[in-house]
Amino acid sequence: MSNLLHVTRQKMASNDNRTLLFLVFSFLSLLQINSCIAQNVKGGYWFLGSGITASDIDSTLFTHLFCAFADLDASTNQVVISSSNAQSFATFTSDVQQKNPSVLTLLSIGGGGGGSIADNFASMASQSSSRKTFIDSSIALARSNGFHGLDLDWEYPDTDAKMANLALLLQEWRAAVAAEAASSGKDALLLSAAVYYRPHYWSPTDYPAAVMAANLDWINAMAYDFFGSWSSTTGPLAALYNPGNGLSGDDGVSAWIQAGMPAGQIVLGFPFYGRAFTLADANNHGYFAPITGTAISPDGSIVYNQITKYISQHSATTVYNSTVVSAYCYSGTTWITYDDTQTISTKVGYAKGRGLKGYFAWHVGGDDNWVLSQTAWNSWT
Ligand SMILES: *[C@@H]1O[C@H](CO)[C@@H](O)[C@H](O)[C@H]1NC(C)=O
Repeated sequence: MSNLLHVTRQKMASNDNRTLLFLVFSFLSLLQINSCIAQNVKGGYWFLGSGITASDIDSTLFTHLFCAFADLDASTNQVVISSSNAQSFATFTSDVQQKNPSVLTLLSIGGGGGGSIADNFASMASQSSSRKTFIDSSIALARSNGFHGLDLDWEYPDTDAKMANLALLLQEWRAAVAAEAASSGKDALLLSAAVYYRPHYWSPTDYPAAVMAANLDWINAMAYDFFGSWSSTTGPLAALYNPGNGLSGDDGVSAWIQAGMPAGQIVLGFPFYGRAFTLADANNHGYFAPITGTAISPDGSIVYNQITKYISQHSATTVYNSTVVSAYCYSGTTWITYDDTQTISTKVGYAKGRGLKGYFAWHVGGDDNWVLSQTAWNSWT
């Protein structure tokens, strides 16, 4: 009897151990699955009028899609969706989830429209009451339109005071997002911000990197637009490595990490567009060659699928520079800097290798039959 009890106890004990081990392993694999889902961003921005609808997006090639842009109403400090965007934003999430039910969507607020948009952000962020209006309305708008998160695109806070107010805004935003999740029982909204490629912008004070790390899920580092309509020479739009002027994605990533942003919260941005310039001399067509201005469009911007057309129609010469990781093409005096498949695959490999959170493209409508998106997706290995 006592022997039997003993044996039974041993059996129970080993069963308990097995149960415990099973639980531990399930927990660990759950953690792993969770961190896989939570960890990587293979993202892209979309906007209405970019040439494709949300339903056109091959969302199987993305983990996150950013819907651009909701606006800050300067008179009320509320986040609003313009009437022209309302219909397509309301169905954005269900549209992109048709092909990929697990893709997550973020409503992006603001954008690169310049002066008054940035001024309105600065004004809103300067008072606690207007910050609260902004924050509360952003959460309500995200929920009522079915988004999984919010993305702040303030281009850019450019004074010490604005940087300090940005820090307050992000702290209060995170607290409100957490409180809303607790009271609604839903997953907390994701919170990201599109930022300058490096933490040092115009103001003497850098971005509040530590506060951003503590309150944002990640930052989207806009590592492009290094050359544009203001330039007097050709040069790589979005070099990964320093072409000689210090403007590169790698310089920006290193500076963000140095400033206190963990690599695992940095998402590296690259362009699905290029910039076209007019060469001063058709025979001088390398980097830093003199130009007389932009070409093809007023600010020289041209999406990737138009670049591939241009190359075939004009039999343009294409060059991939593996030192800086950038491509260009030229025909006569027209010279275009852009990211091709080789550029994208190298950048994604870099992002993975440096332990970054992921990558994003501005903007998915620029792709050519999804070749860049597919290349990016396949290169995160
Ligand atoms: C690539 O760009 C760098 C930086 O401008 C330059 O020094 C180098 O000669 C270029 N390489 C090629 C193969 O054009």
